Amino acid sequence: MQDWRTQHKNKIVTAAEAVRIVGSGERVVLGHACSEPPALVKALAARAAELRDVEVAHMVVMAPNDFLQPGMERSFRLNGMFLGPHTRKGVEEHRATFTPCFFSEVPRLFRNGILPVDVVMLQVTPPDEDGYCSYGLSADYTQAAVESAKTVIAQMNRMMPRTGGVRVHLDELDWIVEEDAAIAEMEAPRFGDLERQIGAHIAGLVMDGATLQLGIGAIPEAALFSMRGKKDLGIHSEMFSDGVVALAEAGVITNRKKTLHPDKFVATFLMGSQKLYRFVDNNRAVEVRPVDYVNDPYVIGEHDNMVAINSALQVDLSGQVNAEAIGSRQFSGVGGQVDFVRGASRSKGGRSIIALPSTAARGTISRICRRLDEGASVTTSRNDVHYVVTEYGVADLRGKTLEQRAEALTAIAHPNFRESLRGEWALASAR
Ligand code: COA
Repeated sequence: MQDWRTQHKNKIVTAAEAVRIVGSGERVVLGHACSEPPALVKALAARAAELRDVEVAHMVVMAPNDFLQPGMERSFRLNGMFLGPHTRKGVEEHRATFTPCFFSEVPRLFRNGILPVDVVMLQVTPPDEDGYCSYGLSADYTQAAVESAKTVIAQMNRMMPRTGGVRVHLDELDWIVEEDAAIAEMEAPRFGDLERQIGAHIAGLVMDGATLQLGIGAIPEAALFSMRGKKDLGIHSEMFSDGVVALAEAGVITNRKKTLHPDKFVATFLMGSQKLYRFVDNNRAVEVRPVDYVNDPYVIGEHDNMVAINSALQVDLSGQVNAEAIGSRQFSGVGGQVDFVRGASRSKGGRSIIALPSTAARGTISRICRRLDEGASVTTSRNDVHYVVTEYGVADLRGKTLEQRAEALTAIAHPNFRESLRGEWALASAR
């Protein structure tokens, strides 16, 4: 058997040479979020004229890539398993498509051949002295794609932070393109008074020593800001960002009290600014592990005092949570929300929080509503929901009757809508 250094040398090709393997009608999985390999994406997109119906499977896309440009859809069709600002429009215009699925399920879809992977293109760090590369900022479904794909092409990037958790040996890579590139960054979300109020209510539900999961965006960031006075918090989260670094540096997040993986920050992917990337690089306390492990409700439930903090677009008066559609327009996806809600409910002392502003569209629409909009999805069911938080307070729905839920949720709706919500509820009850 060749030693890994010889293997490494023999596998080095240019990006254009590497992507020649992709054929029409095949499925290409891109490394998730910051693991998307820019040199390979560019080289594959340059083959648009000669390819037809290549499916590009992806979730969080950090910046508009070539596959998303109008006119590319005959050659490349993006299949998003989560949508964001760069992918929604493509789906609306039928140039791209969406597959509803739990993030934690994606590795099984690849491994069981339900979504067979022809080619995976990802970013890795250069190898360590034993020939292992780090998956860097994304292990999530990326590791399962590597293990299932017919061909694995890696962009080896010296700027990719080296994280702990899982790693990939050079044996598993078919082709290597050595090209350094700046890692995609996510701007820190800005938050104002409204998010601060929501954040303060959330912080009131977080006990010292809790292990946290946080979603993306202004509300989780504001919640972290309100937790500066807490002690010994821990992280077991689908992802985390700069706000966690700030609390770790302030000595608030220590991971000391975690009942599983004590002293470790555990996540399945990371995105943020260079501040985050410097913090996680070669940091033995940071473990980036596959999503079918991190988001497994049984694993989550093994953490005592697990607190899951997620957001939503609407909550109806029975507690059904829509976190992914505005009417029938697909806005995002379930991601890890349901897994963390269920995991937190299994956890001793655990709680899950769905936090959202009480209104949308400059105060003209109540996000606490009698019924979800026509076409909307139930992301977290009313059987799973626990706390709902708006800027007006906290509704604890667990074990509550339909009437009690309607009352508790109306009390945290915007005052302008409380009367009409009571009226709609009374009317429905009278029927
Ligand atoms: N009707 C009409 N418009 C609505 C609306 C409603 N019920 N609810 C929200 N909107 C509008 C908002 O006004 C806002 O518009 P703007 O950008 O013009 O201001 C836009 O939709 C986005 O709403 P916002 O509350 O800012 O969304 P967000 O960026 O905070 O994301 C979720 C919220 C729910 C979409 C996001 O958290 C998500 O994708 N969750 C599901 C996955 C998940 O929970 N993952 C967690 C594990 S990491």
